[in-house]
Amino acid sequence: MIVTGGAGYIGSHACKALFNAGYMPITVDNLSTGWSEAVKFGPLEKVDLLDQPALERVFGMYRPCAVMHFAAFSQVGESVDDPAKYWRNNVIGSLNLFETCAAYNCEKVIFSSTCATYGDHDNAVLAETSEQRPVNAYGTSKRAVEEILQQMSKSAGLKHVIFRYFNVAGADPDGEIGEFHKPETHLIPLILDAIDGKRDAITIFGTDYETHDGTCIRDYVHVCDLVDAHVSGLRWLENRGSDRIYNIGSGTGFSVREVIEQASLVTDRDVPFIEGARRPGDCSKLVSGSELAHVELGWEPKRSSLDHMITDAWRWHQTVGYQG
Ligand code: UFG
Repeated sequence: MIVTGGAGYIGSHACKALFNAGYMPITVDNLSTGWSEAVKFGPLEKVDLLDQPALERVFGMYRPCAVMHFAAFSQVGESVDDPAKYWRNNVIGSLNLFETCAAYNCEKVIFSSTCATYGDHDNAVLAETSEQRPVNAYGTSKRAVEEILQQMSKSAGLKHVIFRYFNVAGADPDGEIGEFHKPETHLIPLILDAIDGKRDAITIFGTDYETHDGTCIRDYVHVCDLVDAHVSGLRWLENRGSDRIYNIGSGTGFSVREVIEQASLVTDRDVPFIEGARRPGDCSKLVSGSELAHVELGWEPKRSSLDHMITDAWRWHQTVGYQG
């Protein structure tokens, strides 16, 4: 099966889970943000989704029966500054991929969407039925791809499962792969950088939100739990399950200050931080209701405590990185 973005953080963990479940993941990745060293569980095809003829060659060569689609730009702040980049890459790239799936009778699609499609909901817990009103181009681009997929399900028979992730964290407990972005923008790796002196301090983006301690609240889910849900979603489609949308989160929210405190406890080190302005495009609180995935897929998060996620991230952070 094809895994777009298989050289990235979540995609590489998905490849490992698929390999362990008996599948052969073929990574399709342009390596713009991914790492060839992260592709350890199947072949790498260096292809950009905007290059449809190249994509067709890969489909012709491997004749995949299913696709997991992770390849996308995913930084909320950057999407506010450069929305065109997000529309071009995330939406047109996905359209090319889905058209190629249809042309090669690859009818099972698992799509990586996001809770950023919901936008701000006055601190409510979000269900799959909550209204989607994204506040940044990243969320808008992902919502558009969801719509394309839903329409192409009807027109071209693309059976799909859409996962709306909350904040993905942690790393492979075996230490083979982990989170590594250049530049890094995500909270937990930045905190770990500040702890071991790779940066002076972490800046808390906004301390005047209407939350219990004034900082943003997010729902963190372990990357291994997340990719387990994807394997379950694939099996759901193989067993003739119909089109579905599932939230994937732990169901518990933590503020930026709470994540900093927990990182300090896990590492037994101080976290240097300063308080700064809000980051444009941020919602105050994003917390999932993931009951549907529990009920229909039997999905249970196993490592999604903050303690586990930071412990696994810290192990990865200390031992390895990709050279690029
Ligand atoms: N934060 C800081 N300082 C930093 C970095 C982040 O205070 O230096 C805060 C952010 O403001 C936010 C929280 O930490 O409140 C988490 O920020 P991240 O950048 O780690 O993650 P985001 O919530 O912005 O976005 C991530 C993924 C998206 C996904 C989203 C879902 O990058 O792809 O989670 O919430 F859609």
